Amino acid sequence: MKKLENHIPIIQAPMAGYTTPELVAAVSNAGAIGSFGFAFSNAERIDSDLSEARKLTDKSINANFFVFAEQHAPSDKDCKIAIDVLGRLPLAADITYQSLSAPFSPSLERQLEPIWEHKPEFLTFHFGLPPKYILQKAQSLGMCVGVTATCLEEAEAIENHGADFVVAQGMQAGGHRGTFSIDGGGDQKLLTFDLLKILKENCLLPIVCAGGIMNGGDIVTYLNEGAAAVQMGTSFLCCDEAGTSPLHKKYVLEERQRKTVYTKGFSGRWAQSIENEFTSSMECKYVLPFPLQNTLTNPLRKFAVKTGNGEYQSLWAGTEFKKARALPAAELISQLVSEMGGS
Ligand SMILES: Cc1cc2nc3c(=O)[nH]c(=O)nc-3n(C[C@H](O)[C@H](O)[C@H](O)COP(=O)(O)O)c2cc1C
Repeated sequence: MKKLENHIPIIQAPMAGYTTPELVAAVSNAGAIGSFGFAFSNAERIDSDLSEARKLTDKSINANFFVFAEQHAPSDKDCKIAIDVLGRLPLAADITYQSLSAPFSPSLERQLEPIWEHKPEFLTFHFGLPPKYILQKAQSLGMCVGVTATCLEEAEAIENHGADFVVAQGMQAGGHRGTFSIDGGGDQKLLTFDLLKILKENCLLPIVCAGGIMNGGDIVTYLNEGAAAVQMGTSFLCCDEAGTSPLHKKYVLEERQRKTVYTKGFSGRWAQSIENEFTSSMECKYVLPFPLQNTLTNPLRKFAVKTGNGEYQSLWAGTEFKKARALPAAELISQLVSEMGGS
């Protein structure tokens, strides 16, 4: 089985909608681990992305998926309330919101078919535990399997389930919060460093720390406290090879006076984004559960991208986004390694 310790201890975080074959290959070719975020991709797309990446690198890569229970269609009443909320946003646009019908996301079993064929060296899951037969099949094919935890209880469940490592995600992290609970209930809201300390004392699995890690000094701090590696998302958002929209990059690089906020407004699950008109307008507003709200807001997000309106795009980023650098991925890895005291 491929191991974390055979690489530069940096995993470029899986970021669904942002990770391209070029980014993943550039990171892996530089000696770290490049990841695909395949949460919203269908099997055909996963197959073509993996084929493309394999043409660009023969090094270790990671594929990542969301795990969550299938959702039923919302009642007409709930759907109408959620649509009314979106209709009252202070946005001068005539967007038609469709009522929703299942399925709202591709089936995990179907998404994994190309995985069994391409056999990425690492396979990770966010929001919960994959079925045991999937985990065991991946391990029997030589893959190293990791699952996100935001607290000790989740990490213990991951260890008992038989995974190979835990991704310890702290509150500083950009994008979706990986709590097992779908509505985020009971979230202990731990910072990355505090979570590492708790897991170090109580778990045996290797721990990969995620959330707010932006430079070589941060990486060394986490490794010295016992992390096996770090997982960095926001740092890679402005890499040349990332699929981040130009406007999203502009907010990360130029709107540095803004704060980040957790919002359920875009997808129905808590996720950290740079604050904009949408996140402020959606505070305390009714939303459908994940992933229904994600499907519902799709036309709005598409409209925002098409019209270049960053105030209505999901600008996922972690609390430390002000430290992100616009560089080719290999150059970013090389700078991080040199900041760590390596050559
Ligand atoms: C744009 C973006 C998209 C993300 N998408 C995913 C995803 O698809 N799967 C996942 O496990 N984590 C996802 N994350 C969370 C990362 O895995 C990781 O926890 C986070 O980026 C670490 O914090 P940082 O952003 O401060 O580096 C995403 C993060 C960002 C910034």
